[in-house]
Amino acid sequence: MDLKEGSLSLEPLDNILASIPDAGDCDLIPILQKIQEAYGYLPPSVLAATSDRTGIAASRIYGVATFYEQFYLEPHGRHTIKCCRGTACHVKSGRDIIRAISRALGVQEGETTDDMRFTFETVACLGTCFLAPVMMVNDDYYGHLAPNKVKDILERYD
Ligand code: FES
Repeated sequence: MDLKEGSLSLEPLDNILASIPDAGDCDLIPILQKIQEAYGYLPPSVLAATSDRTGIAASRIYGVATFYEQFYLEPHGRHTIKCCRGTACHVKSGRDIIRAISRALGVQEGETTDDMRFTFETVACLGTCFLAPVMMVNDDYYGHLAPNKVKDILERYD
């Protein structure tokens, strides 16, 4: 599928909407989940078409899409790295982990690698301060991390 905005096929969207007859407001989250599954993110042109085809207001669609962290409005990598920048991690040199990730991938916080392999995010706390410093790749936790381990860990993800 061509992922250039503006030239995206609406066929996946039509298939999604065909599977949810009379889609309305209360179907919005499952619809957005399926769109993201099909396109890898929520492209604006597809959201506009969703509004046209279902009659759900675009403002409502964007309200939901921006409220939930699970939704991405920009192309997202196949794997998501979340590195903690919270206090417990910070005092255990968490900043060095963040730098090591940036160095290994050639991207800054909030960016996606050109090959769409990783999106690199930082978060205020991963809720596992006892593992500080810690990062997650998708659903995997890597705790008591050292900067020199980062590259090897990331190589496990295609
Ligand atoms: S501060 Fe890093 S996991 Fe809580």
